[in-house]
Amino acid sequence: MPDQVTRPEVTQDELALALDRARQRTLLLTDLDERELTTQHSPLMSPLVWDLAHIGQQEDLWLLRGGRAEAQGLLPAQIERLYDAFEHPRATRVQLPLLPAPEARAFLRDVRGRVLDRLAHADDLFAFAMVEQHEQQHVETMLATHQLRDGEPLLGTGAALPPGRPVPHDAVLVPGGEFVLGVDGADEPWSLDNERPAHVVDLPAFRIGRVPVTNAEWQTFIDAGGYDQPRWWSARGWQHRLEAGLERPQFWSADGSRRRFGTVEDIPPDEPVQHVCWFEAEAYAAWAGARLPTEQEWEKACVWDPALGRRRRWPWGSTPPSTDVANLDGAALRPASVGAYPAGASAYGVEQVIGDVWEWTSSDFVPWPGFTPMLYRQYSEPFWGGDYKVLRGGSWAVGGNAIRPSFRNWDHPIRRQIFCGVRLAWDAAPGGSTDV
Ligand SMILES: [Fe+2]
Repeated sequence: MPDQVTRPEVTQDELALALDRARQRTLLLTDLDERELTTQHSPLMSPLVWDLAHIGQQEDLWLLRGGRAEAQGLLPAQIERLYDAFEHPRATRVQLPLLPAPEARAFLRDVRGRVLDRLAHADDLFAFAMVEQHEQQHVETMLATHQLRDGEPLLGTGAALPPGRPVPHDAVLVPGGEFVLGVDGADEPWSLDNERPAHVVDLPAFRIGRVPVTNAEWQTFIDAGGYDQPRWWSARGWQHRLEAGLERPQFWSADGSRRRFGTVEDIPPDEPVQHVCWFEAEAYAAWAGARLPTEQEWEKACVWDPALGRRRRWPWGSTPPSTDVANLDGAALRPASVGAYPAGASAYGVEQVIGDVWEWTSSDFVPWPGFTPMLYRQYSEPFWGGDYKVLRGGSWAVGGNAIRPSFRNWDHPIRRQIFCGVRLAWDAAPGGSTDV
C-alpha cells in the first residue's frame, strides 16, 4: 500500500520532543536582560516578557486544568489574568505588573514538569499538540518583535541556506475539477479546528505562480510608480497607502538597503519579498496583470495529486519537512532565494509553497462547512467574518508542527510586520495556456 494513505499518528515521545524543541526556541529568544524583555518595541507587539509567561499560562490552562479557567492554576488568579490575550490588547500589556523574567521562567519550568508527567499517561493527545503549536506561534510572534526592535543585532544574521537556481518565474496550470479541501483529525492529527473537516470542492482551472514574487520584481513595481498610481489600488488600499505613507516594503530604505534583525544589508534580488501588507499585495497583483489566489486554489496547487486523485500530506509527498525541501524553523532569519528547493515542488510544480514567506490569499477568514470548535474555542471562532485575510504556507520563522498544507493563518489587511509575501494567480486562459 502506498505510504500516502498510512494514517499518521502522534506519540507521547514525539510530543515530548516537540514540546522541548518549542521551549528551547522560546528560551533562546528571551535570553535577554530585563530591560530588553520589558521594553515595548512596537505598539503592535507585547513586551517579550509577556509572551514568555503567557506561554506557560496557556499550557497550565489547557494541559493541567483541561481548559477550566475557574480552576486554580499555578499562578494567583489576579496574576494569571494579566496573561489573558482577549482581556489585554497588545498595546497595553507593557503597563501591566507582569512577572519578572526569572519568575516567569520558573513558572514555565514548574508547568512543564507537571505536563510531562501527565503526557506520559494521557490517552487523548490533541491538547498537547495544540499547546505545542501555540508556543511555536508565539515564537514566530517573538521573532517579529525582534525584527521590529531598534538597536544592535541580538540574533546574528542567521544560518546558511541552500542557494537559489535559475527557475522560470512563470505560472503553472492547475486544471479545473474537484479536489479535497481541508483535513480530518484522523488523517492529520496536528490539524486545528479551522482546517477541518475535509470536504470536496470543485474549482475552475486557474494558473498560479511557480515561485513567490521576489524583491527584484517588487523593486520593478516601485520603479514603475506602483506606489504613486491609484489605478492599481483598491479604494481602501489607496486610502491606507496614503494614511500610512507606504512607499516600499517595511524595513526597506530608499537607498536599496534593508534592516533585518538589527543588521543593515543590501536587498537580495532573488529572495521572496516579505513585509508587504495585503493591500500592497493586491496592488502589485493588479499591476502585474494578475490577482491573489483564493485559499482553495492555493491549497489545491500545494497538496493535490491529480495522478492519484488524492491529497499528499506535504507538497513533495509524505516525508516530513527537512532542510532539503523547505526553509522552516527560524534558524535562517530570512527566506531562501527562489529555486532553492526543487525537491520541495508540488505535483503541479509549485515551489517554496511551504516555508519562506506566508502567502496572502484573496480569501476572507470563514469556517469550512461542518466546522466544530476545538477545546480552545476562542482560537478561530471569534475571528470568523472579521476584517481578516487568510495567509497560507508558513514562513521561514514557523517551527515544529505549526505548519502543514491545510494550516490557515489570518491577519488584518494592513499588517506587514509578519513574515508575509505574495504568490500571484490568474484565471486560466481559454485553452489552458501556461504562458504568463
Ligand atoms: Fe497566545
